Amino acid sequence: MERTFIMVKPDGVQRNLIGEVIQRFENKGFTLVGLKMLKPSRELAEKHYAVHKERPFFKTLVDFITSDPVVAMVWEGDGAIASARKIIGATNPLNAEPGTIRGDYGVSIGRNLIHGSDAPETAQQEIGLWFEPTELVGWTPTAQAWLYE
Ligand code: RTP
Ligand code: MG
Repeated sequence: MERTFIMVKPDGVQRNLIGEVIQRFENKGFTLVGLKMLKPSRELAEKHYAVHKERPFFKTLVDFITSDPVVAMVWEGDGAIASARKIIGATNPLNAEPGTIRGDYGVSIGRNLIHGSDAPETAQQEIGLWFEPTELVGWTPTAQAWLYE
């Protein structure tokens, strides 16, 4: 089973989309193994987006992510990393397909509602950055037998 780091950004929280995001991942068949709300520190946000630190939008991005609460989550399932990126949609919501979270709810690249890890290495790194091992709860949903053969 694969684990991925998903975060509802401040705009998603303010627009009352926490429940909608969780519902979509639950509906897909992924398992929630970590969940918390926090207002990220600047240090945490800068580490999270370190790959973009030379980009012109870095400061605006970090300002935004630290401006208000986010909801950090870890979801588990076969192929969860790539599948979550499909559920989330393209970075620019105007290019995101209808049916994706960004495609259904966003209009602007700087307000694209949600983050999802983009590869196994980044997923592992981000989960370690945002969660203590003791905050992650592995469990077996009873529906597992109906989701996997
Ligand atoms: P994320 O990391 O937040 O899940 O988004 P992503 O993989 O789809 O996109 P990424 O390239 O990693 O960019 C991170 C976030 O930076 C903002 N951004 N702004 N103004 C711009 O040109 C620009 N490009 C990226 C977006 O909010 C994006 O989610
Ligand atoms: Mg990214």
